[in-house]
Amino acid sequence: MAAVVEHPISPEVENSTMGSQLDALNQWVMDVARVTQPDRIQWCDGSDSEFAELVRGMEADGTLLPLNSETHPESWLHRSHPDDVARVEHLTFVCTSEREDAGPNNHWMSPADAHAKMDALFAGCMRGRTMYVIPYCMGPIDSPLARCGVEITDSPYVVANMRIMTRMGAAALARIEREGRFVKGLHSIGELDPERRFIMHFPEELTIQSYGSGYGGNALLGKKCHALRIASHQARSEGWLAEHMLILGVENPQGQTHYIAAAFPSACGKTNLAMLIPPEGYRNEGWKVWTVGDDICWMRPGPDGRLYAINPEAGFFGVAPGTSEKSNPNALATIQRNTIFTNVGLTDDGQPWWEGLDDRKPAFDWRGNAYDCNGPAAHPNARFTVSARQCPSWSPKAEDAQGVPISAIVFGGRRASLVPLVFEARDWKHGVLVGAAMGSETTAAATGAVGVMRRDPMAMKPFCGYNFADYFAHWLSFDKPGAQLPKIFHVNWFRKGEDGKFLWPGFGENLRVLEWMIERVEGRASATDTPIGALPKIGDIRLDGVALSDEARRVLFDFDRAGWQAEVDSLASFLDEFGTRVPVALKNEQARIAAELRNG
Ligand code: GDP
Ligand code: PGA
Ligand code: MN
Ligand code: MN
Repeated sequence: MAAVVEHPISPEVENSTMGSQLDALNQWVMDVARVTQPDRIQWCDGSDSEFAELVRGMEADGTLLPLNSETHPESWLHRSHPDDVARVEHLTFVCTSEREDAGPNNHWMSPADAHAKMDALFAGCMRGRTMYVIPYCMGPIDSPLARCGVEITDSPYVVANMRIMTRMGAAALARIEREGRFVKGLHSIGELDPERRFIMHFPEELTIQSYGSGYGGNALLGKKCHALRIASHQARSEGWLAEHMLILGVENPQGQTHYIAAAFPSACGKTNLAMLIPPEGYRNEGWKVWTVGDDICWMRPGPDGRLYAINPEAGFFGVAPGTSEKSNPNALATIQRNTIFTNVGLTDDGQPWWEGLDDRKPAFDWRGNAYDCNGPAAHPNARFTVSARQCPSWSPKAEDAQGVPISAIVFGGRRASLVPLVFEARDWKHGVLVGAAMGSETTAAATGAVGVMRRDPMAMKPFCGYNFADYFAHWLSFDKPGAQLPKIFHVNWFRKGEDGKFLWPGFGENLRVLEWMIERVEGRASATDTPIGALPKIGDIRLDGVALSDEARRVLFDFDRAGWQAEVDSLASFLDEFGTRVPVALKNEQARIAAELRNG
């Protein structure tokens, strides 16, 4: 900001009470105000009265529509600008001083060019608006793994969502003042013009600048921008991992709980798996699943060598379409009250509605037009924002400052063909390659074509704040003496049959696969070794009572050698895109598997 022409500042802003004991923070807030020229500054304390006041304002100007207060108390619908409905990967940049440090996996701009571009966009952009200052903490407020930031925004919708998604307000500010260090995030909705929209990350400056979008992943800066892109960069230098993973606990009938972290690309089943309800037979036996997180996982080695994980978020920003009493009853129970819905349809009695919920017909589509039954009523990336504490399966351990010990890491994506239901990596190094090799069909969570296969290593393609080659090396570095690393698995809930329908029932039935993983961790379940890893045979996974077609039984557990040869060959060219920076150990691992596939 320093190079920018300083504008005179309105007396009201000049005299606004500084909310902080930290000079560096006050200074930054005033620097931003000089550039953006807001009419008012409001330091957010996270209180109920502050939230109520914000909501009143948004109801008055139509930003939030109150929903039916009998069926959905304290809940609202927000209709976004129709061009502002998803993350914008083509407008998202990592601005490191060296281009190579961002890697071919990121769009790059030099910090100087990016600052010049953003300063021009931000100049005077908050005239007539209130500038909100949001101190927030990612992770339990007393956790050594948690990190803080401050987001400045001119959007009350962002403030309301940040209050749900993070520990926001006075306690976070106190921690920031104690630590003296925080990630600086500056956001303005600007004109919501896709031509004037950029999401910029300056990992070396612990700074984020986002302009022109109000959509969650672009605008709630604690989430993807801080907790993944900036945090992954910090985690590399500090020896931990910031990952696009859900965290869940599986409690067996003996009362023992294993924690599992799983990375699937956006809209590929994280929230659903995190809130899984066991099939009836398992419930009767006493199995329980506990939700710790549904999108982001920060983990680091503990004193016993195991990886300990926290969920840096305090809420869920979940995909609405497909959420139903049948697919995800926990999510449905969670969003009955105190929820902000974005871009869903609306019934004639003011209830939120989306495809897959039930067979009612909504009266309005997500744009607010009378619903004419052409196309979906809810946008395919319609979302709900809700506090995690409302989730019936919310784990008491989710607030634990030390985090939960991870027994298994799972990678997975949408793969219509080739990839079996589940397999296990032979060791950590192989597991890192399995993660690096991940591929998935694109979804509506980002703008662009849907259903196109692309490589998405560890589901971090849109989120890794540095060069993937260095990221793979960082993953490999956890394998050292004294480490008690989790086993690594790969799953595919999305294999399709010849009729184009999913072969695996998914959702609650996925527990059967998790049970097998846990038994593998405990050394009890059997599997068959193949070049791609250990595969269960049909009898190794409990399938009592699951209706599976003959085709499903044959295909879901099958290892297609010829198909995998092509897959693993194409992996070699993918790794080559990262040049000589790719760890030799990873290339050797690819070569080992390719050779085994040829020689077997
Ligand atoms: P996230 O964005 O990774 O958290 O994904 P969600 O859990 O929100 O799921 C995205 C979409 O995939 C929703 O429409 C879900 O209904 C669907 N989905 C989730 N899990 C499964 C599954 O096990 N099988 C199938 N067929 N669909 C699933
Ligand atoms: P998702 O989160 O992974 O639950 O879709 C939002 C996103 O990744 O954009
Ligand atoms: Mn996500
Ligand atoms: Mn999700």
